[in-house]
Amino acid sequence: MYFCPNCGDPLTIVYDKNELKEVKFTGKGVWRYRDVLPVSSENAVTLNEGGTPLHRSVKLYNEIGVKDLWIKNEGLNPTGSFKDRGMTVGVTRAIELGAHSVICASTGNTAASLSAYAARAGITSFVVVPEGSVALGKLAQARAAGAKIVKVRGNFDYALKIVRSLAAGTTETYLLNSVNPYRIEGQKTIAYEIVEEYGVPDWIFIPVGNAGNITALWKGLKELKSMGFIDRLPKLGGVQAEGASPIYRAFAEGKDEIIPIQNPQTVATAIKIGNPASWRRAMRAVKESGGIMLSVSDEEILEYQKRLASKEGIFVEPASAASIAGLARATALNMVKKDEHVVAVVTGNGLKDPESLMKISAEEITIDAELEALKRVIKG
Ligand code: F0G
Repeated sequence: MYFCPNCGDPLTIVYDKNELKEVKFTGKGVWRYRDVLPVSSENAVTLNEGGTPLHRSVKLYNEIGVKDLWIKNEGLNPTGSFKDRGMTVGVTRAIELGAHSVICASTGNTAASLSAYAARAGITSFVVVPEGSVALGKLAQARAAGAKIVKVRGNFDYALKIVRSLAAGTTETYLLNSVNPYRIEGQKTIAYEIVEEYGVPDWIFIPVGNAGNITALWKGLKELKSMGFIDRLPKLGGVQAEGASPIYRAFAEGKDEIIPIQNPQTVATAIKIGNPASWRRAMRAVKESGGIMLSVSDEEILEYQKRLASKEGIFVEPASAASIAGLARATALNMVKKDEHVVAVVTGNGLKDPESLMKISAEEITIDAELEALKRVIKG
C-alpha cells in the first residue's frame, strides 16, 4: 500500500517522538543518519551514497546577485544522481520484505539508480520508461546493470500510471518510485547534510519533476527542527521547466489543485512530467516554508547548465540546472534578496545527458599532429 485511501496522496513515514530522542549521527553518507531511517542498516544495500560535496560558488553568486551561494552537487552520487539516496533505503526495504523484483517508471535517473541497487542486491529490476525521452547515458546504465527495460509509447505519466496499478497490493514486485515512502526517507538525508555542513540558509532551491525530492527535503528539515537541531527553517524555491510546470502554474494562479499537463515538453527530460504524483505535498512544503514555485524556459536551463560548468567547474544535466536558472529568475524579480544566503541543489551529473550541450557548445579545432600546428593554435 503506497497511497492514502482517503486523499490519494502517497503515504508518509512518521516516527514516534520518543524514538527520536537519542539520535546520533556517525559515519558518512546516507547511513550516517541510520537513527532516523526506517530500516536496519545492518543489511543495507549500499554503494556509499550521499556525502556529496557542497561547493561555495566562486562566480555565479555575483552574476546572479546574491551574497552567498552554495551548490550541493548530487551528481556525485554513485550512479550520478540524488536518486541513490532513496534507492539505498528503498532496495534495502525491498529485501526486508522478501521482494523478488523491483520496478519503477522513470525519466531515466530512477531507472539507472534502481537497476544498480537491484544488481547489488541480486534481484531483478524492471524499468518502465517513455520511449524516445530518456537520455542515452541513463539507458546505458540500466542496460549495464542488467535491468529489464520496457519502453512505453507515451510519456512518464502514463508509465507511472500502469506501474502503480501493477504494484498495488503486492510486495512481490516492489514499487520504487518516489511515491514509496522509503525512497523519501533516504532522500531526506540531503537536508541533514546541508544543515550539518552549512547550517540553515535563507533559501534552498531545487528542481521539481514528480515532486518527491522537494517533499523529502522539507520532511528532513522539519524533522531537524522538531528534534531541536535547528531553530528555524529555510524558504524553498521549487523550479519546474516551463513546458512541464503544473505545480508552478497552480501556485502562480493561487489555485489549490493542479491541472495536469497532457503533453509536457522540455529539453530537461528528467523533469518532463505533466502530472506529478507528489504535487500536493510539494505545494504544501513550499507554502509552509514561505517560499516560491518558479518555472524557467529551456533557454534559461541550457544557459545555466553552461554557466555552471564554465564559471564553477560543475557539469550537470539540464534538469539540474533548473535550480540555478530559477534562482537567477527569482533574484531578477527581487523575490530573493541580495543579502540572502542560498543553497541550490543540482541533482544529476552532466555526463548522463550531454546531447543538448553538444549542440550549443564551443570551439573545437582539428589539426595535424604536429608541434607547429599546435603552437599556431595556442598563439591564436
Ligand atoms: N533532477 C533530476 C536529474 C531528476 O532525474 C529528477 C527526477 C528531478 C530533478 C526531479 O525530482 O521527481 O523528485 O521532483 N527524475 C525522476 C526519474 C522522475 O524518473 O528519474 P522529483
